[in-house]
Amino acid sequence: MPNSSIALAITGASGAIYATRALAALLARGVHVELVVSDYGRRLLRDELGEAAAIEHMLPYLSAKYGPDVSRGSLTVHSNRDLGATIASGSHACRGMAIVPCSMKTLAGVAHGLSRSLVERAADVMLKERRPLVIVPRETPMSLPQLKNMVLCAEAGAIILPAMPAFYQLPTTIDDLADFLAGKILGALGFDHDLYPPWTGKV
Ligand SMILES: Cc1cc2nc3c(=O)[nH]c(=O)nc-3n(C[C@H](O)[C@H](O)[C@H](O)COP(=O)(O)O)c2cc1C
Repeated sequence: MPNSSIALAITGASGAIYATRALAALLARGVHVELVVSDYGRRLLRDELGEAAAIEHMLPYLSAKYGPDVSRGSLTVHSNRDLGATIASGSHACRGMAIVPCSMKTLAGVAHGLSRSLVERAADVMLKERRPLVIVPRETPMSLPQLKNMVLCAEAGAIILPAMPAFYQLPTTIDDLADFLAGKILGALGFDHDLYPPWTGKV
């Protein structure tokens, strides 16, 4: 798909750092990212990462934290209320989407095809067009309806990639954990990355 983009949605679950790390890594690879953030996603960005990470300051924040390579990519921010945005249509050249982190509410909306917001509609578009949709749910413990909603999304073709960092890479910082999750997300979207070293068979 020439001139294609990746949609990234941030919703109101804990783990905003997974979203900012994945966003920075996509931008550093020269990707055009179409970002949509729910109201509670905006709140969690500020609550967990501070005012500097508010959506209005996102590019300078990413550049300061992850380096100037983020300027290789480009960013469009859509309103979650704009159901007429580009990513609401299958005719738009968006080649994949990740919802990072994905709240149980948005998970339910995607599982049942509700399309109430741009996040839900864009996810529905990915499923109907058979394009990669990566869902990064975060909740613990999980109820039976939440588990069933993950199954429904997986049956519809989504990749369920829970916010579960691994420890065999011997992480020492929160950033190491975020690198691991972001690497998993980029891999699921079909990108090469060096966010964590490949498993060699030995710790
Ligand atoms: C500080 C805070 C942390 C939250 N963490 C989670 C979470 O980890 N997982 C989750 O499913 N919901 C969490 N919620 C609840 C969601 O934000 C809430 O259900 C919201 O309606 C989700 O809307 P959205 O999917 O449109 O962002 C949290 C809310 C707050 C205020």
